[in-house]
Formats: sequence, structure tokens, C-alpha cells
Amino acid sequence: MANLNTHYMGLAIKNPIIVSSSGLCNSIENLIKIEAAGAGAVVLKSIFEEQIMMEADNFIDSSDSSLSAMKKGFNDILTNRSYDYIEAMDYMKNFAKEHTLKAYLDFIKVAKKSVNIPIIASINCVSAYDWSFFAKRIQEAGADALELNFYILPSDVNKTAAMYDEMYQKIISDVKKFVTIPISLKLSYYSSSLVNTFMELSKSGISGMVLFNKPYNPDININKVEISSGKIYSSPDEYQRSLRWTAILSGRVGCDLAASTGVHGYETVVKLLLAGSNAVQVASLLYEKGIEEINTLVTGLNKWMDEHNFKTIDEFRGKLSQVNIENPAVLERVQFMKSYANII
Ligand SMILES: Cc1cc2nc3c(=O)[nH]c(=O)nc-3n(C[C@H](O)[C@H](O)[C@H](O)COP(=O)(O)O)c2cc1C
Repeated sequence: MANLNTHYMGLAIKNPIIVSSSGLCNSIENLIKIEAAGAGAVVLKSIFEEQIMMEADNFIDSSDSSLSAMKKGFNDILTNRSYDYIEAMDYMKNFAKEHTLKAYLDFIKVAKKSVNIPIIASINCVSAYDWSFFAKRIQEAGADALELNFYILPSDVNKTAAMYDEMYQKIISDVKKFVTIPISLKLSYYSSSLVNTFMELSKSGISGMVLFNKPYNPDININKVEISSGKIYSSPDEYQRSLRWTAILSGRVGCDLAASTGVHGYETVVKLLLAGSNAVQVASLLYEKGIEEINTLVTGLNKWMDEHNFKTIDEFRGKLSQVNIENPAVLERVQFMKSYANII
């Protein structure tokens, strides 16, 4: 039996299979199942900036009875104008933010008592909003690490690539001022100079990078002639993008790497480790086939290592990363002249 123990973001994990942030990680019952199925760690469902802002905006109209006494107090303040109006509104928004955050913090506390695998919390940032404050509270609640889900589509015509990079760096430096637990960035591949941007980000004091988040993709329904939703779950061949960039970045970045998107079998886990990832993250497979599939991944990895006489993950991790292969250009080839020639 091979030894699957490894490290990710400075956390000791019993194997490199991490359940990625999703609704699957949103109940204690599932976290217990995830641990029982053999996962090395779990990333909780993200708390979304948009969700917090929306709830804060909707707070005044809310019919939530638990908030009604508080709201009545605020309404009295507003009616009597005993406080400055803006000040009162800010106070209300902060209260609503606190309300949303508290549920997340309570969940972390119960999760920590319910399972022994590392719990990585996740916050979804789309701006340089007050993440440092949330991150501090998440650390206090007992999370072992924090994944910053940077899911920003660089679609603003007025923003240059440098402006986006600057925003990422600002969020990281703000968060780093308030927390000591390891931080990872979950990134999208929409970057005009991916290697340079990611290398710079890896030097900002973070402990890990997740390559990549799966973007929500719109589609078009040609019968209704309207925009529709693309596929939510990944397909088994979607790992190839993560494989290429993991292989290119491994050994060059100053932090750990977790490969994500398209992990549907142990073979893909092996490939991504060979490319140089410290861990892999998985979601769609578990939605489609059940949480128990974690066990199939762990068993398959173990069997492959035995068959290839690898006793530890470190013996083969990164063996096929760009810095370790004889012909580094194969990972950068974008036109397949030979393959195309054979097809034609
Ligand atoms: C239903 C669903 C919910 C998700 N929710 C989150 C989330 O809250 N935060 C996040 O960072 N990623 C979220 N993801 C993305 C996954 O964590 C993962 O990055 C993506 O599904 C690609 O991995 P996969 O191919 O193993 O599914 C979600 C994915 C799915 C399918």
C-alpha cells in the first residue's frame, strides 16, 4: 500500500483529493459523508459578495420575522431622524451583512467539531470590498485555511489587464493583514498574460492557487432564440486546460497548486499530480455519481502507485512538469501540424 499523505498550503492532508467548493459542502451531513468516503480536505461553499450585498440591500423590505424587532428600531430612528439618515442606512446594511456572515461562521464552527479533515472556507470576491474583515472572522471561527474565489470576468472595456492584476494584489494584501491561516486563490484562466500574472500573485504571500474555476458559460437556445444556461457540470476531458497550466507553472510559482475542473477518474488525478499539482479538487463527478466516488479516486490512485512502485506522492509529483521534461515546448504547442496532417 502506497503512502498518500501529502501537503497542500502547509496543511497535512491524508491524500491529495479535495472536495471543491459547491453545494455538496453546504451541510454537516455531507461533510461527514465526504470524510467517510476518504477525502483529504474539503472546501466549503463560498460565501458570495453579491449575496451579501443583495441581502443588505433587501434588508429593509425583508419579511424575516427574526429581523423585525431590529427593523422596527431602525424605522423609528429613520422616522424620528434622531440619527443622520446615511449613518442609519449604513448601520442597517452592516447589520444585514453581519446576519449573513454569522450563519456562515456558525457553520464553520459546527463543521470543525463534526469532521477531522481540514476545512477550507471560501469567499467569492468580485471587488475590493471588505474581504479582510470577513477573512478575520472566518479565521476566528476555526477554518484551517481560506480560499479566495476570484471570479472576475475581465469584460470591462475601461480596465486594462494591469488594473485587474492590481485589484487582485490589493485584495490579497488587505486580507493578509488580518489573517495568519493559509490563503489560496481560485483563479479563472481569463488572463491576458497568465504565467506572468500568476507568478506575481504567487509571490504575494499566498499559500496556494487553484487552477481553475469553471466559468459559468452562457449558451443560446436556437429554438427559442434566447440566451440559455450552459452546462453546469464539467466533462471528463475538461481537465486538459488545468493540466497544461499546472505543468507550466509547477516548479516556477512560489506556492502550492491544486488542479481543478474535469476530474472524473483516478487517471486524471494521476495525470494532474504528474503535471505538478499538490492536490486536485473535484465536484461534478460527485454530483453526478455520488460522494462515495471519492473512494474510487483514492483507491485508483493507490493501485496505480503500487503498480508503478511509487511509495509516496513526492516520488512522482511534477515528474512531467515543464521544468522536468526534456522537451518543454510540447506543453506550449498550440498548433498540431503533425496531428492535423494525419487527419487530413
Ligand atoms: C453546483 C455547483 C456549485 C458550485 N459552487 C461553487 C462555489 O460556491 N464556490 C466556488 O468556488 N466554486 C463553486 N463551484 C465550482 C466548483 O468548485 C469547481 O471549481 C467546478 O465545478 C469545476 O470542478 P469539477 O469539474 O470537478 O466540477 C460550483 C460547482 C457546481 C457544479
